[in-house]
Amino acid sequence: MDHLDLPALQRAAGTVKLPGSKSISNRMLLLAALAAGETEIRDLLDSDDTRVMLAALQQLGVGVTAIGTNAYRVSGCAGVFPGKDAELFMGNAGTAIRPLTAALALSGGRYKLSGVPRMHERPIGDLVDGLRQIGCDVRYAGNEGYPPLEIHPAAARLAAPIRVRGDVSSQFLTALLMALPLTGETAVIEMTTELISKPYIEITLNLMARFGVTVQRDGWGRFTIPAGQRYRSPGLLHVEGDASAASYFLAAGAIGGGPVRVEGVGLRSIQGDIRFAAALETMGARIVWGDNHIEASAPAAGKLKAFDLDLNHIPDAAMTLAVAALFADGPCTLRNIASWRVKETDRIAAMAAELRKLGATVEEGADALTVLPAPSLLNNAAIDTYDDHRMAMCFSLAALGGVPVRINDPKCVAKTFPHYFDAFAQIAAPVIAIDGPSASGKGTVAQRVAQALGFHFLDSGALYRLTALAALKAGVALDDEAAVAKVAAELPAEFVGDKILLFGEEVTEAIRAEDVGVGASKVAALPAVRTALLDRQRAYRRFPGLVADGRDMGSVVFPDAPVKVFLTASAEARGERRYKQLIDKGMPDNMRPLLQDIVKDLRERDARDAARSVAPLKQCDDADLVDTTALTIEEAVAAVMDSVRKARLQAAVF
Ligand code: DC
Repeated sequence: MDHLDLPALQRAAGTVKLPGSKSISNRMLLLAALAAGETEIRDLLDSDDTRVMLAALQQLGVGVTAIGTNAYRVSGCAGVFPGKDAELFMGNAGTAIRPLTAALALSGGRYKLSGVPRMHERPIGDLVDGLRQIGCDVRYAGNEGYPPLEIHPAAARLAAPIRVRGDVSSQFLTALLMALPLTGETAVIEMTTELISKPYIEITLNLMARFGVTVQRDGWGRFTIPAGQRYRSPGLLHVEGDASAASYFLAAGAIGGGPVRVEGVGLRSIQGDIRFAAALETMGARIVWGDNHIEASAPAAGKLKAFDLDLNHIPDAAMTLAVAALFADGPCTLRNIASWRVKETDRIAAMAAELRKLGATVEEGADALTVLPAPSLLNNAAIDTYDDHRMAMCFSLAALGGVPVRINDPKCVAKTFPHYFDAFAQIAAPVIAIDGPSASGKGTVAQRVAQALGFHFLDSGALYRLTALAALKAGVALDDEAAVAKVAAELPAEFVGDKILLFGEEVTEAIRAEDVGVGASKVAALPAVRTALLDRQRAYRRFPGLVADGRDMGSVVFPDAPVKVFLTASAEARGERRYKQLIDKGMPDNMRPLLQDIVKDLRERDARDAARSVAPLKQCDDADLVDTTALTIEEAVAAVMDSVRKARLQAAVF
């Protein structure tokens, strides 16, 4: 896919579970590799940059085993790497090449480190200078000051303090701090310049401490690692959610109404980027903190406010503020962000160029950016992403200005967040929720509306029918709540085109049988079954949008759906429709008396669906009522499309 077209979006609300933090994942992997003992790391980020680190560690002879989803067991090598000869490919992962360079320089082997062309434009000279001061043999294989690098065996001498600059990247200091305990000697690092991005150093020191190595810090200018400390595995570790990634969703809540909640970071987080939430607060956004979550909503009244902020402490999340500036009530200035120039791309130049495509006036300084938003965003901007994951993620927010936006090369998000656009869709993709009783015609109507809009389609009733059928096939009693919920959670069903498969067998017709319908209505009354199917239903919410049909689409599954319709018809009319369906399926047309039974059956089922304690069938207060008793299918479709227009979604879909 060379581009992704985001529709014009109106609102963002909901909850996102964050992927693991990149900064923490790669630091933990390296520390676990250098430590004595086995470390189990859970919730590791699954992304290009962590794969680079995992592959490098394996190449260096470290035992790394996957033990479940995003969980790994690392058998530490208790000191330097066993592999003494390796050529390592580092992609564009700064969090891998910098600390590995330092650790390898002290490992007594021969190594080559290289990356993608952009990696060879990202400076590493300050780190190499630092390592050379203690006798390490690190050479440039290409341009002076940049990767690729060659490392040769050499004995380290730690007599004098190591003097390094801290104003290009804090990762040079992180690399030295993590590697120097391998010498076993006292090591002192002195900064020769102001240190940038200090919160990242706090992450480094915090994680080193968890592995048993403490560092004495005098302000931010001098760091001492006392002699005789060795990394020891703390056993089990969890990676907290990625605070930089949280910034996109929090900004979405501030721009698109909210509340948007991110789970995985909060008051207890050790990542500096959580302070992005405070920056959003200065724009007037409402922020609520929990131990392990943060929630953001739009200002109580009016627009987001303009800002002028020093953002040196949150360089990555600051990019999100540059895009949020498009929604501010005046010019916004981001200061002290020179490090943007040496990241995945020259982010100051890239940000300026792409913001202009949306109509903003942008002034670019050596280490600052001023964004003067236009009164409304320009339509159909095609945003270039410069192989920079954060450019792609940031600019998705522009669609919340109610304009369609094209994101070129959206796959670049894989660097840190492969499923970013699915997660963003979970809070922002428009949903048209169509609820109503059986045989109201909503299935057909919903499908036609989905087709007309080019949206995805969810027939949630099919999931309950599949659960009932799967339970019946497995001999599970339909009133055994725990057992049926287990069936629902594991439901091996697939939707392939028009066909529905269960255990790989086609059941498209089978799930429409009356007894399966009755069974579905029974299992649908079990709270644990409904919970088990919740995430599965929500996963259908993708761009450009979703039409979801069921009983509780608007009330429970997608409560923030911008369009809610309650589609109904008299029981008699629905009975007639069901009777006609049966005739279409081959039943002889001489069974009119059956109609009464059908109507009775429908009434009973309505009563059961309406009386159950969880998610009963009812019209939401904010749903439009469409009574199809006297309508043709075309008229019913037109009525739903009216609701879509009324919700001003037309910009998104026409
Ligand atoms: O829409 P349908 O007839 O295929 O639904 C089958 C059963 O599943 C129906 O009795 C109600 C239940 N159901 C539900 O409880 N919630 C939904 N969202 C969809 C269906």
